[in-house]
Amino acid sequence: MSNPSEADLIHMFKGIPFTTRSSPELLKSLHTIHAREDDVLLVSYPKSGTHWLAGVITKLYNTQVTLTSPIEFGDISKLEELNKVSSKRIIPTHLDYNMLPPNFKNKKCKMIYISRNPKDTAVSMYHYYRDNPNLPTIDTWTAFFDLFLKGDVVCGSWFDHFLSWEEHENDKNILFLFYEDMKKDLPKIVKEISVFLALNVSDNDIQDICKKSSFSEMKSDTEKENSDPNHTVCALTSNRKLIFRKGAVGDWKNHFTPKQNRRFEEVFNEKMKFSKM
Ligand code: A3P
Repeated sequence: MSNPSEADLIHMFKGIPFTTRSSPELLKSLHTIHAREDDVLLVSYPKSGTHWLAGVITKLYNTQVTLTSPIEFGDISKLEELNKVSSKRIIPTHLDYNMLPPNFKNKKCKMIYISRNPKDTAVSMYHYYRDNPNLPTIDTWTAFFDLFLKGDVVCGSWFDHFLSWEEHENDKNILFLFYEDMKKDLPKIVKEISVFLALNVSDNDIQDICKKSSFSEMKSDTEKENSDPNHTVCALTSNRKLIFRKGAVGDWKNHFTPKQNRRFEEVFNEKMKFSKM
């Protein structure tokens, strides 16, 4: 069988590339999603540490919670599927702020946005494109670099995504986190998350959660489990084994040429000129 074409894998919705695993019908109906006041949204641009954060958050609760698949993943039956979840829902999404269903905003649901150095995000996404049969074929890093800077990749421009959420960083129901801070001092960030979610978690439990959420622990847990296609927090794959690649800060230095770095900095400075980042 020949490789699927880009059109089989990607479609555009409101100017943003989505994989065909997010059906146009579902995307058009997202505004009808029924939000609950106690929903927690886990928001990210792909490859920013979504699975890591999901692992931490689910371990923080000692009551039953359900980590759903992303809002935008699947077909129209998703709306009903979400309604059927009887316990508290932790809902991941890669949607930008403007596309987030208004019901979650109106109900002031808690949202945690995780971001990562866009250079490392680009490198992580490049490897993901190469390994993931749900994404178009990419021949070289150079080709991917250009697509990433143009925002011609799934979920669109990193810059637009980040900026759409950064505008809301002072909203009381939104917590902003950085992958690099989690790498530097995970216990501190886990504590911050627990305070934000109003959970009473002891220092011992925090240490335990951090141990269980290390890259090596999470990678080996995933290798032991049989992939269940419904068990994903990323709308781009159902294969969790593709997620745990290197888990490092600064891998971009192994990929960017000096010229690419200069170009990236130029685009970054221009796009982010009003950002506090
Ligand atoms: P790399 O490709 O750079 O290794 P997402 O979950 O949003 O798809 O992000 C995936 C990235 O987060 C991958 O980056 C993955 O290795 C990294 N990651 C996942 N779990 C991690 C952990 N426990 N510690 C550090 N990095 C982790």
